[in-house]
This record gives sequence, structure tokens and C-alpha cells, in this order.
Amino acid sequence: MAVPATKKPLLLSFLGFGFFVLVASAGSFYESFDITWGDGRADIYESGQLLTCTLDKVSGSGFQSKREYLYGKIDMKLKLVAGNSAGTVTAYYLSSKGATWDEIDFEFLGNLTGQPYTIHTNVFTGGKGDREMQFRLWFDPTAGFHTYTVHWNPLNIIFLVDGIPIRVFKNNEKNGVAYPTSQPMKIYSSLWEADDWATQGGRVKTDWSNAPFRAHYRNFDDKSSCSRTSNLTWVTCDGNKNSWMWTTLNDRQIGQMNWVQKEFMIYNYCTDYKRFPQGFAKECYL
Ligand SMILES: *[C@@H]1O[C@H](CO)[C@@H](O)[C@H](O)[C@H]1NC(C)=O
Ligand SMILES: *[C@@H]1O[C@H](CO)[C@@H](O)[C@H](O)[C@H]1NC(C)=O
Repeated sequence: MAVPATKKPLLLSFLGFGFFVLVASAGSFYESFDITWGDGRADIYESGQLLTCTLDKVSGSGFQSKREYLYGKIDMKLKLVAGNSAGTVTAYYLSSKGATWDEIDFEFLGNLTGQPYTIHTNVFTGGKGDREMQFRLWFDPTAGFHTYTVHWNPLNIIFLVDGIPIRVFKNNEKNGVAYPTSQPMKIYSSLWEADDWATQGGRVKTDWSNAPFRAHYRNFDDKSSCSRTSNLTWVTCDGNKNSWMWTTLNDRQIGQMNWVQKEFMIYNYCTDYKRFPQGFAKECYL
């Protein structure tokens, strides 16, 4: 297997796989994704630069990455369903397969015109989630494209919005908290309807007179990632010491995250006494 000598020791030692040399690219949606459901309701436009998912009364739609990732700083720009989007959910997440899967979630819950969206985040390890944190945004996510980033490396998972960290899930394996370190994940996204729970506890129903609903995607960037193609060929990735692979938040970013969590967080599983009367998950105390 041809592996550049400079990258070999580090990558091989912690991923435990061989690597072929390929150049990671932030190419078109055609190169990076397959439309997987919705019978034509999701499609790619502008020579691969724009992807749109739609939802109508019959069905939603969705797509998934061709590659699987084992760590990465993965950017996607989204413009969410505008107008009365109550009851619609745009899910954007990474997930591995099997009964003990790992998953890193962004979900965007629509609302009535002029009412705020909710960003829902969660982390599953070994098939167990229950780690929800929810936020409002400091802008209208339907008026333009904004960047949503999953930065997953061996030290932490950072959720970022327009480069501002909103949440960190640290690797606390040494304290007995499971962390995703070995199961490659694909990227999935879909637009679907969940008015039974998504909007104000099901009190607000989806208004189908506004259908089809549309969510748009641009500027997918997985250059900073370790991934493998469908034939299980690993793509080389930059794992050097100063790269995305080993970064955690700096002081300025911690300040930003504290601001977001103070001003915009509306739910935190680590403070929900009603739901967890026996005590919170271990990481809540660390
Ligand atoms: C919709 O807006 C209302 C009013 O601001 C808010 O209470 C509710 O949580 C919002 N729903 C979602 C799903 O964001
Ligand atoms: C695997 O896929 C990559 C690109 O996706 C290609 O370059 C390579 O030749 C393939 N390898 C095999 C063994 O088919």
C-alpha cells in the first residue's frame, strides 16, 4: 500500500488501517453524495453546487455521503425551510451502522412564520443517546446559507455554527464515558415531517398549503477528514499535530461558546432534573 512516509506512522498507529493515496476533494454534490430517498424530491442543481431536498404531503427526501468518515472537520452550508415551516425537520447528521452505532446529530425544527427555529444536537455512543442540547440561532437560518460544522477528532466533538462553537463533547474515555473512536460514519441528511412532536409538542400542525417545503445545501467541504470510499479504500488525511485532528477549543472559542450557551441554549440534558431524577450522565459532572 502506498502511503506517504510522513503521514504513515501517525495515521496507521491510531486508525489501524492501511491507506491508499487519493486526494480528498471538496467537489460537487454528485461526487460526494447519493440521493437515497424521496422519489425525485431531492435533487442536485448548478452542475453539482446546489442540493435541494423537498417535502410534500406524500414524502420527504434525503441523501447520504458516498464516503464513510473516521474523524473530520466537515462543513456544510444549509438554508432551511422558509415561511411557515412548523412540523418540518431538517436532519443533518453523521452515523455509523449496527446496534451499537455512534452518531453526531444536528436537527433543525421548523416553526410558524416569524417564530424561531430550534437547533437540536445529540451524541450517540454505542447506540446510546439521551444527550440532547437545544439552541436558538442568532440569525434567521431561512434567509440565507450558514455553515454548520461537525468537528470530530480523537479529543472532542465540536458543533459549530458559522465557525462559532455551540457545544463540545469531550473524549472522557479515561473516566468511563464512551466516545466514538472506531466506527466510521456516513453523513446523512433529510427533510421530513414530524408535527406530532417537533413543533410545540405537536400542538402546531404542518400547513400543507405551503408545500412543497425546501431545504438547500451548498459548499460541502470534507477536505479536513479521514474517509474511505465505498470500496473501502482509505483516503489520506492530514493528521499532523497542529491540524484539525488534534485541536480543541482555544480561550477565545470557549468564550464564544459560553456566550452562545448563556444566550441561546434552551435545553441541556445535563440540567434536566425531571428527566434524570437519578442523576445526570457521567460527563455532566466532568
Ligand atoms: C416556535 O416558536 C415558539 C414561540 O417563540 C417557541 O416557544 C417554540 O419553542 C418554537 N418551536 C420550535 C420547534 O422551535
Ligand atoms: C476504489 O475507489 C477509488 C476511487 O473511489 C479508485 O481510485 C480505486 O481504484 C478503487 N479501488 C479498487 C480496488 O477498486
